[in-house]
Amino acid sequence: MTIELHDVRAQYRRLKPRIDARMQAVLEHGQFIMGPEVAELEAKLAAFVGVKHCIGVSDGTKALLVAMMALGIDPGDEVITTPFTFIATGEMIALLRAKPVFVDIDPRTYNLDPAKIEAAVTTRTRAIMPVSLYGQCADMDAINAVAARHGLAVIEDGGQSFGALYHGRRSCALSTIGTTSFFPTKALGCYGDGGACFTDDDALAERMRQIRVHGQSRRYYHPIIGINARLDTLQAAVLLAKVEVLAEDLAARERIGRRYGEKLAGAVRTPYIEPHNRSVYAQYTIEVDARTDVQARLKAEGIPTAVHYPLPLHLQPAFAGLGLGEGSFPKSEAAARRVMSLPMHPDLDEATQDRIVAAVRSAVAVRTAA
Ligand SMILES: Cc1ncc(COP(=O)(O)O)c(C=O)c1O
Repeated sequence: MTIELHDVRAQYRRLKPRIDARMQAVLEHGQFIMGPEVAELEAKLAAFVGVKHCIGVSDGTKALLVAMMALGIDPGDEVITTPFTFIATGEMIALLRAKPVFVDIDPRTYNLDPAKIEAAVTTRTRAIMPVSLYGQCADMDAINAVAARHGLAVIEDGGQSFGALYHGRRSCALSTIGTTSFFPTKALGCYGDGGACFTDDDALAERMRQIRVHGQSRRYYHPIIGINARLDTLQAAVLLAKVEVLAEDLAARERIGRRYGEKLAGAVRTPYIEPHNRSVYAQYTIEVDARTDVQARLKAEGIPTAVHYPLPLHLQPAFAGLGLGEGSFPKSEAAARRVMSLPMHPDLDEATQDRIVAAVRSAVAVRTAA
């Protein structure tokens, strides 16, 4: 049996009748753009997250862009963020001709270290954009406190943390705007691209709604510059079917994540989840020595792994213009050399997980003995 990193087909087999019915309904009513499923989904997700407004968008990258456009981030403005993330976070800041200002991570959680943020604030800083990496929220209260002292907006990039809890509150409800991605392998994923922005601020919500449809307030009338960042109706339909089992899927992910933690303890560095956090384990990411060898041994055993992420943003060629060399953010650089993600999805059964655990234990043991 093939083991997959994120087995999206197993979930489809489990949910087929309800997903098919939802998609069929869209095919029949034919409102593929901004059909009724989009508003229905937005209402459900806003209630789930615990905010007034959810704005469905085309993907998690555009969610970041729409959020920053609504906040009026201009060329030359600075946005503080982490270098240890997927490219989209820094990329959208740069796309607006604003400057990503990187601050190193707390190596225990891989999230932005709040104690280091204040030193990076300048007169040009407009916002802080923490990422809730691997499914665990960044320390949002501490980040919001720095932001409040300096009058900054906070955008939580919840591209990996939809459904996570922080002090009992949901990811994406913890700051000025929260954004997420519904990429197929996410804790809540669709069958293509999808994303959303969340806020309690009525004016920002209105701007984001306009921006996602070309800055339009009514048909063919455009008070502001926007883009096309609409969530497809078919994707909203898939998400509506999956939202019904979201609580179960999140519980399964947490159970599987904890079980990995128990079974791998002592062999590798397993994820540290803060006591006030509940992770959705978007990735189950461990740390190992000699990662390339360990990955090769696991591959030979039929176990796929991935590295999220091998090169921090400040060392990416696309950000060479910032002039930040090796050694600028040592914690992020060290993590990038050591992290490795194991198969993780809600349908991972215990027998398969045991096989993965045994293979990891033996792959790291061989390495230690060598
Ligand atoms: C933290 C983070 N932000 C943003 C994104 C971008 O999301 P999308 O692929 O939906 O554009 C991702 C995607 O994986 C992500 O992990």
